Amino acid sequence: MTIITGRAKIAAVLGWPIQHSRSPLLHNFWLDRYQIDGAYIPLAVKPEDLRKVIQGMVAAGFKGCNVTIPHKEAAYLCCDRVDEAAKKMQSVNTLWFEPDGTICGTSTDGLGFVASLLDQEVSLKRCKVLILGAGGAARSVVTALSDVGAVITITNRTSSKAKQLINDLDIKANQLNWEDWPNSLEQFDLLVNTTSLGMEGKEDFAFDLTYAHPKLVVTDIVYVPRVTPLLKAAQDKGLKTVEGLGMLLHQARLGFEKWFGVNPTVDQELTEYVASSLRK
Ligand SMILES: NC(=O)c1ccc[n+]([C@@H]2O[C@H](COP(=O)([O-])OP(=O)(O)OC[C@H]3O[C@@H](n4cnc5c(N)ncnc54)[C@H](OP(=O)(O)O)[C@@H]3O)[C@@H](O)[C@H]2O)c1
Repeated sequence: MTIITGRAKIAAVLGWPIQHSRSPLLHNFWLDRYQIDGAYIPLAVKPEDLRKVIQGMVAAGFKGCNVTIPHKEAAYLCCDRVDEAAKKMQSVNTLWFEPDGTICGTSTDGLGFVASLLDQEVSLKRCKVLILGAGGAARSVVTALSDVGAVITITNRTSSKAKQLINDLDIKANQLNWEDWPNSLEQFDLLVNTTSLGMEGKEDFAFDLTYAHPKLVVTDIVYVPRVTPLLKAAQDKGLKTVEGLGMLLHQARLGFEKWFGVNPTVDQELTEYVASSLRK
């Protein structure tokens, strides 16, 4: 077990509520693995307290924090410096504090998504991708895929939101009607579900993969359950699949490196450790 001394580096995750966050489990696993004198703690922060908590963390010598629902947009406005990814998203999930107190922020979900696919040897340059959904997570995924040169098509139940997303992000992307995507599947190399369909507790949805090309890769950013209905349908057809848990684990790496100085590895041991907590 890691010993926490008076020199410990401290980071946190801020959310409201926060008790469902898997981030403390994940970061403390890495702190233990790399024998780092540090800690990562969950903080339940009401929306109206966010700014003063972040400023308090700077004053208290924290290295930085993650922010989760509902703080991602408000935390963006608390940053002194943000990168291009955050600017496009107008939101952040990872903050780090410079020694002079400068609050820096970025959004790592897109990076995590791409890393989880590269980890499974899915090549993304010029890859023809069909994205289901146009919510908050879709914005990160679309931005990251666009940055690596994928050819993007978006379909969403509410088509005006897909249009809005393409306009807001100022990217080149095609749009498909929600009713039409199953019949158009043959032209794509990668199918990504960014909707909440298939998530535990949501209504059942039958993903129709009848027209999938045999080489189609299917990924779902939903990770509870680990094998979602979409991934199950793809596996039944013998298609390659990439689970959403990888995105969750990879998006955490940049923050850990900024706060604790080690670029941590995502491997089978960590994946199984976090996955076992999802079953509880
Ligand atoms: N793996 C990870 O690290 C990671 C990271 C972030 C999020 N996620 C997961 O991603 C999912 C989406 O999160 P989010 O923040 O993007 O949510 P969000 O902003 O609320 O967007 C939800 C999306 O799902 C669509 N949708 C919901 N119900 C639907 C239905 N019955 N039929 C068709 N489409 C439906 C919505 O379409 P409309 O626009 O038509 O409503 C919208 O596109 C969640 O399950 C979340 O847990 C995973």
